[in-house]
Amino acid sequence: MRTRTRDPQTLGGAGTLDRMARILAARNIDPATVAAPADEPEPFSPLDALPAGMPPRYQGAVADHPQVLEWVQDVARQAVAPSTGARRQVTTGPSLLMAGVVGAGKTHQAYGAVRQLVQTGVGVRWRVTAAADLYADLRPRPGVDTERELAAVSRCPLLIIDDLGAAKASEWVEEVTYRLINRRYNHMLPTLVTTNLAIKDLRAYLGDRVSSRLAQMTTRVEFEPVDRRRHRTPA
Ligand SMILES: Nc1ncnc2c1ncn2[C@@H]1O[C@H](COP(=O)(O)OP(=O)(O)OP(=O)(O)O)[C@@H](O)[C@H]1O
Ligand SMILES: [Mg+2]
Repeated sequence: MRTRTRDPQTLGGAGTLDRMARILAARNIDPATVAAPADEPEPFSPLDALPAGMPPRYQGAVADHPQVLEWVQDVARQAVAPSTGARRQVTTGPSLLMAGVVGAGKTHQAYGAVRQLVQTGVGVRWRVTAAADLYADLRPRPGVDTERELAAVSRCPLLIIDDLGAAKASEWVEEVTYRLINRRYNHMLPTLVTTNLAIKDLRAYLGDRVSSRLAQMTTRVEFEPVDRRRHRTPA
């Protein structure tokens, strides 16, 4: 990740600056010619980097669902600083299950929640994956360490699993989902799940072990049964 600062204090304080000035004077170099250019970018901010991980459709998404906003606040509140004075980081926290019909606005709220969380100022490594893409990535195949990929997704401080239940059900899908959810459940890692399925169908799709864990670890958010894609101006 790009990190930079223009604060001269980080060079070692006034003493360092004086030494630099003396060195430049000894070499007949005008300090003005080595000063930072006026158009140098501002210091790095996580908000600047945010759009990089966001698909264009959701780059401007704003979370406005009260339960989603409440969840963001809860996750931010539970962030802890790894050392005194360091920025607070998301480590453990509550999870959210957003259920609703196609086009209800679940993915919009999910990306909006990530933006909102970053705006609170806490440090958070996050990842969004459609469940079907995740299963494709995790399919065992020669030359790919899919166990390592599963471990990485399982550990990610904030994981958004979009469209759980959209891939074809199978024993393998159930097992992989169980291993992923079980790890996140055990480590109490904030996980935001979206689904088109009703809870009873989720249970039939993923089995008791996953649905039991999701029932305990998530707050459930129900969306109005409106397909927003069919009720708005085209974009
Ligand atoms: N609160 C909102 N304000 C403005 N536009 C919205 C809002 N919520 C959703 N939209 C827009 O409505 C469309 C559908 O939203 P979204 O993709 O989030 O639905 P979804 O519930 O994830 O659907 P699916 O289940 O098919 O994945 C998108 O174009 C999205 O940008
Ligand atoms: Mg969606």
